[in-house]
Amino acid sequence: MPQLLADITAAVAPLVGQGRVADYIPSLGRVPAARFGMAVAMADGPVYGTGDWQQAFSIQSISKVFSLALVMSHDYDSIWKRVSREPSGTPFNSLVQLEADRGIPRNPFINAGALVVTDRLLTLTGDAASSVAGLLRTEAGNPSLGIDATVAASEAEHGHRNSSMAHLLASYGNLENPVEKVLEHYFNQCALEMSCEDLALASRFLARNGVGSNGTVFLTPAQSKRVNAVMLTCGTYDAAGEFAYRVGLPGKSGVGGGIIAIVPGKCSIAVWSPALGPNGNSVAGVAALDEFTTRTGWSVF
Ligand code: DON
Repeated sequence: MPQLLADITAAVAPLVGQGRVADYIPSLGRVPAARFGMAVAMADGPVYGTGDWQQAFSIQSISKVFSLALVMSHDYDSIWKRVSREPSGTPFNSLVQLEADRGIPRNPFINAGALVVTDRLLTLTGDAASSVAGLLRTEAGNPSLGIDATVAASEAEHGHRNSSMAHLLASYGNLENPVEKVLEHYFNQCALEMSCEDLALASRFLARNGVGSNGTVFLTPAQSKRVNAVMLTCGTYDAAGEFAYRVGLPGKSGVGGGIIAIVPGKCSIAVWSPALGPNGNSVAGVAALDEFTTRTGWSVF
């Protein structure tokens, strides 16, 4: 594995820094583009890493996997009355689609769907962002990981589109809590800071049929399968087809440049490189995952 990671790092080096660092949340735009890290957590074994794998970054939409898993762990299937599970084929922050779908977001990983999931988690736990943070701390074994308050504030200040989306959801009766509260928890969960090492460990339950780090059943095998399925079809937005074609794994990206990917039964992978392609996915990150599955043959296909 260490040699494989070194070879992948060398192979993607020319791509690192290609693309654009997200700047619609101004404090994300300050991250240097030319960074690359990757970590692989074996299902029942060690974690391997390369490059900037221990550097913390803003996980952004990757948090949506963990909020969905938490809601499913409390509530089993009832969230699917309020959110669909079809690929969106439109940008992650589309308002037009939400209107066309009459307030039922196309899937839980576009922003509208994630707002509904966060709303449900808020009802179930009383504190959605803290329950996501708590799960991540436990699974990553890193009690010090937390929210970057500057990123959260920056997102709130420039969050007109998310705010519009939340109000549109409320107008369709698809929020249980006040708009401002849902937005606050959503921005906070997106502003969690983690390294590739933390993220590979935190998502490992999805490679272990739902079994968490301390051996307890966090999700049932059927739920774990379903979260992975939604990641495969919806985790990289309107590039989910391209991601499945190139990587062939369930994956979830964030505009901070991170991506997690799951090889069921084998390992969980996290990669980070801040410069993004046109659909909001890390250019070097997708390339590294493509190299990983092509070289190992570890894909779900
Ligand atoms: O709501 C937003 O726009 C960000 N907090 C998260 C977006 C995101 O990461 C989409 N990912 N590719």
